[in-house]
Amino acid sequence: MFGFVHEIFDTIKYLNLARTNMVAAWPGSYYRREFIELHFAHKRMFVLNRPEDIQHVMVSNSGNYRKSLANRQSLKPLLGQGVFVSEGKLWERQRKLMSPATHKRRLKGYADTMIQAGKEVALEMEACPLGSEVDLTEKMTLLTSDIITRTMFGVELGERNELLYQSFQDYQASHGRIHISELIGLPAWIPRPGQAKGRAAVKLFDSVILSVIEQRRKSRREHEDLLEMLLEFKDQEGEPMDFSLLRDEVASIYLAGHETTAITLTWTFYLLHEHPEIKRCLWDELETVLKGREPSFDDVSRLTLTRAIIDESLRLYPPVHVFSRQALGKDEVSGVSVPKGSFMTISSYVLHRHKLLWENPDVFDPDRFLQGRSEKINPFSYIPFGAGPRICMGKHFGLMEAVLLLALFAQRFDFKLRPGHPVEPLGRMTLRPHMGMPMRMVKRSRS
Ligand code: HEM
Repeated sequence: MFGFVHEIFDTIKYLNLARTNMVAAWPGSYYRREFIELHFAHKRMFVLNRPEDIQHVMVSNSGNYRKSLANRQSLKPLLGQGVFVSEGKLWERQRKLMSPATHKRRLKGYADTMIQAGKEVALEMEACPLGSEVDLTEKMTLLTSDIITRTMFGVELGERNELLYQSFQDYQASHGRIHISELIGLPAWIPRPGQAKGRAAVKLFDSVILSVIEQRRKSRREHEDLLEMLLEFKDQEGEPMDFSLLRDEVASIYLAGHETTAITLTWTFYLLHEHPEIKRCLWDELETVLKGREPSFDDVSRLTLTRAIIDESLRLYPPVHVFSRQALGKDEVSGVSVPKGSFMTISSYVLHRHKLLWENPDVFDPDRFLQGRSEKINPFSYIPFGAGPRICMGKHFGLMEAVLLLALFAQRFDFKLRPGHPVEPLGRMTLRPHMGMPMRMVKRSRS
C-alpha cells in the first residue's frame, strides 16, 4: 500500500519536473532499469528500456498502439491532420503518397541543393568580422529550413525564412511543455495553459506556409517535387486533396524535415569542440577523401567516420527524445498485463545511454558505429529515427544532409564555444541546447 502511494508521489514529482525539462526529469535509476510501471490517476504508464519490448510496441504489435494524445495535441495547432500526427486510413494513404519524395533514388538530386545552400551560409560566415559569434542552433535551423523548402516545395523563402524560424521558436516556448491534462486524457476542448500565447505564432507560421503554396500554384509544371505530388493528387472519385490537408502536409514536412537535422548538427559541433582528438580524425578523413574539394553525393558513402560521428551524436542527443504511444486494446509486455488506454513511453535519451545496453554509455565514441563494432548494436537499443511503420520518412535525406553539411563546415571552419557557456540539453518537443550554442567560427586553411 505505502509502496503504491510512494509511486504516485514519484509520478507526480516526475511529471512536474518533466514540464520544464523532460530529459532532466528522468530519475538516475531509469538508466539501469529495464521496465518501469507507474500509476497516474486511472491510467498506467510504462517506461520501456528493453529492446524486445520496444520492438513489440513499435513494430510487431504496432497496430495496437497510436501516438498518444499528448504527442498529437502539442503539434495539432501547427500540423492539423498532417502525416506526423494523423492515424489510421488517412495516415496510411498520405504516407504512401508522400514517401517517394524521400526515397533513396531521389537523394542524388537533393545533394547538390544541400551543398549549394550550405556554401551560401559558409560564405556569409566567412565574411563576418574576425572573432564574431553565431548562435549555431539558429544558423543551422535557417539553413536546413532553406534546404527543405527548396528540395520539397521548389521555393526559396528569402526573408520569410526568419519569420518561420521566429514563429516556431515562439510556438515551442508556449507549447513545448507536456501537460498533465493530456497525460490523463482530458478532452482537447479544455483549455491548456500557454495555448493563447501560441496563437500568434501559429498565425504567422500559417501565413508563410500558405504563401509557399500560393507561390507554387502560380508556377506549376516546372517541378517534380513533393508539393507537386500533393497538388496533383486525385482520390478515387477524382477529387483533389482537400486544401486544409494539403496545407497540413506542407507544414508537417517543413517542420519534421528541418528542425531535427539542424539540432543534430548543432550537437555534433558541440561534441567535436569537446573532443579535439576526434575533430582531428575528422579533418584527416576529410583531407584524405575530399583532397580539398567540396563534398558531393558520391562522397557520402566514403566519409565513414563523418557518418559515425553523426550516428554517435544522434545517440547522445537524439532530437526526437521521447516516443509516447497509447494502447488501443489490452496487451501483454514482458509478461505484465497492459490495460487498454495505458501509455507506453520510450525515452531514446535514456535508452541510448542505458547502462545495460551500452559500453561506456556517456562517452562520445564514434568508433562504436564503425564496421566491426556496429554489428553488435541491437537495432532496438538505438532508435533516433523511431521504428516500425511510423519510422521517420526522411531518415536517408536527413542522414545525407547531416553528413554533407558536417563535411562542408568542418572543412572550412573550426568552431569554438564561448568560454564558460553552460551547455545543457533541454527536452521539450525536441532536444535543444537550453541556452543556445554561441560559437566563434575560425576559418581553417584547407589543403
Ligand atoms: C536527423 C534528422 C531527423 C531525425 C533525427 C528524425 C527523427 C524522426 C523520428 C524519431 C520520427 C518518428 C516519431 C514517432 O514515431 O513518434 C520521425 C518522423 C517523421 N519524420 Fe523525421 N527525422 C529527421 C529528419 C527528417 C527529414 C529530413 C524529413 C523529411 C524530409 C523527416 C520527415 C518525417 C516525417 C514525415 C515523419 C512522420 C512519419 C510518420 O508518422 O509516418 N524527418 N522523424
